[in-house]
Amino acid sequence: MAVIADQCPDVQVTVVDINQNRIDAWNDSDLSKLPVYEPGLDAVVQRSRGRNLFFSTGVDEAIAAADMVFISVNTPTKTKGLGAGQASDLRWVEACARQVAQSAQGHTIVVEKSTLPVRTAEAVKAILSAAEQSVDSSQRTFSVLSNPEFLAEGTAISDLESPDRVLIGGEDVVAIDALASVYAQWVPQDRILRTNLWSSELSKLTANAFLAQRISSINSVAALCEATGADVREVAKAIGTDSRIGPKFLQAGPGFGGSCFQKDILNLVYLCRHFGLPDVADYWEAVVKVNTWQQHRIARLVVQKLFGTVTGKRLAILGFAFKADTNDTREAPAIRISKDLLDEGAQLAIHDPQVDSQQIARDLKLPASTAPDAEAGPTRAALSGEGTWWPTDDIASAVQGADAVIILTEWSQYRSLDWSVLVSLMRQPAWVFDARSVVIPAEVEAAGLNLWRVGEGEP
Ligand code: UGA
Repeated sequence: MAVIADQCPDVQVTVVDINQNRIDAWNDSDLSKLPVYEPGLDAVVQRSRGRNLFFSTGVDEAIAAADMVFISVNTPTKTKGLGAGQASDLRWVEACARQVAQSAQGHTIVVEKSTLPVRTAEAVKAILSAAEQSVDSSQRTFSVLSNPEFLAEGTAISDLESPDRVLIGGEDVVAIDALASVYAQWVPQDRILRTNLWSSELSKLTANAFLAQRISSINSVAALCEATGADVREVAKAIGTDSRIGPKFLQAGPGFGGSCFQKDILNLVYLCRHFGLPDVADYWEAVVKVNTWQQHRIARLVVQKLFGTVTGKRLAILGFAFKADTNDTREAPAIRISKDLLDEGAQLAIHDPQVDSQQIARDLKLPASTAPDAEAGPTRAALSGEGTWWPTDDIASAVQGADAVIILTEWSQYRSLDWSVLVSLMRQPAWVFDARSVVIPAEVEAAGLNLWRVGEGEP
């Protein structure tokens, strides 16, 4: 929304939320306090806020004044009830549709921005058309469009400023033209795709499923490389140069995280089963299973290399965010891997340049301990086999006294670590587990450290 405001000074954008604290943070004069860390977002907000971009808790007033309402609420996986663990929880989408139905005035174009299961627009339309027919409707009318978002975190601003495509699904040509004319202010016409509503909803889920499938494919090949003496980076390059396959999304790693891939695939799986396609459901479900397997595999492998036990051992986890350049930890591979190691009784020093320690505690469902003195020998918790963790702001103190460094996010600072210095802080024999292919192997090995890199077999 901020980018729309930035690109279209003649369009007034009001972002509304019922959470006062969040709106206050969006309005904070200190741009470092925006609720989302995203490179370049602060500059975009600074340019438009107060000009044609406003943040407010006045939901009904904003709906009443709007020609177009974007529904951009969460659609997390249901945790209980019908479809628990797979289906999307649509309660907030429905609540929004009902609020729009109640507060809109005149003709309103309602745009589904949230990622939704295919045919959700049917429910939104039914709610809105009930409002059109109600006695007090004061001539309220609606058009429903689907306009899914394809931005990736960390590159959101450039993805929005020059998108591969903008997708608009709907039936009402006038409404589609109105939304297309907003995007046309900065997106070339041939990149604005028009489809029917259901194709648009399904394309969003399918795009994420295809991207995630490539990651599970390359991670499965990484395990085979480790077993056979191949190198997954070489294999990825060799297959990625085939223009039909292409080089992107072939980076083997600790598995995909983020708020979308797993949720959207599970939703696709649920839909396939719902529509009587169990084999198709099984096919897509395997993408998530391989992802989970890869994370457990990495934790298992760390334990095996450290003589079969990490109980009481200090390990440095570098990176907790699900990818670099974000503070988002939703479904981050670091969560499952750290939990497995904590279950084994490890003592984890966790470093991430953007994720705060309260978030890590929530994700691990374990409060932080105070950092133990590396010189003072094992703590009582360590001796009793209880897993503990503590946050560290600098890499040297994370590594101090550790038996291993485990790199789980590809932050740029992890690419230029001076292993000849870090090695002297570690307990020998020490290991580096590079799940993101960021280290220069020769430098790690020259420092006298053992190295495991994802997808690297012994030739
Ligand atoms: C993803 C999609 O890329 C966006 O197009 C989509 O709009 C978004 O989900 C969404 O539905 O909201 P995002 O989750 O922000 O974006 O980040 P990605 O860059 O796709 O990375 C997802 C995960 O895959 C990360 O954990 C990343 O480290 C991992 N990944 C990515 C790999 O392990 N290997 C790769 O080659 C690429």
